[in-house]
Amino acid sequence: MTTRLKRMAGLAGAAVLGAALWWRRNPSACPYNQRFWVQAPHPLITRPRLREALAPAPGQRLLEVGPGTGYYALEVAGWIAPGHLDVFDVQQEMLDHTLLRAEQRGIANIVALQGDARSLPFEDDTFDAAYLVTVLGEIPDQQAALRELARVVRPDGRVVVGELFGDPHWVSPRKLRERAERAGLRFEQRLGSPLGYFARFAPR
Ligand SMILES: C[S@@+](CC[C@H](N)C(=O)[O-])C[C@H]1O[C@@H](n2cnc3c(N)ncnc32)[C@H](O)[C@@H]1O
Repeated sequence: MTTRLKRMAGLAGAAVLGAALWWRRNPSACPYNQRFWVQAPHPLITRPRLREALAPAPGQRLLEVGPGTGYYALEVAGWIAPGHLDVFDVQQEMLDHTLLRAEQRGIANIVALQGDARSLPFEDDTFDAAYLVTVLGEIPDQQAALRELARVVRPDGRVVVGELFGDPHWVSPRKLRERAERAGLRFEQRLGSPLGYFARFAPR
């Protein structure tokens, strides 16, 4: 490799690293126009693994925060039918996209609501379970979002958080556990390695 090429590769690497650091320090929602990231296959944080962590049952009411374009939602809706799945996202375009895909597949048990996870518009103890995957790190106040999840899930329910290393907003299992416990959730189990995992918590 010539010196010039090496320098260009170094600059490109530094730019990517700088952008990743900037994103970590300035949490914000993955914009709809960059949805190709959420439409790609999700290694390690697979749907069967989510199913194992979530243990959904037919007839239950579940909440997904930050469904993106419906990577998990469309499957989860099938697992809990005739129950229903509430999907909640700060971007209406993500919700519209998920609902369109659901309609195309004849899935009718998804209800969508737009808003910010730091303040959920649901009564206490509404859901049998709630989950969010590669979302927590995008929320400016993770503690507030976790507190809200603990509030809206029934005392015998569960909250599942999925994270994938490489996502600029990745939350480590240690940080997640600290924040979740401060928010009133009790750690139960982690499925997967720190590089790609689902952690399950129970409301205290
Ligand atoms: C990286 S995408 C993940 C999508 C999906 N969970 C997946 O894994 O394919 C993050 C999603 O969380 C949503 N989101 C980010 N911040 C949010 C907030 N404060 N409240 C609700 N949704 C939020 C984004 O709009 C986006 O749909």
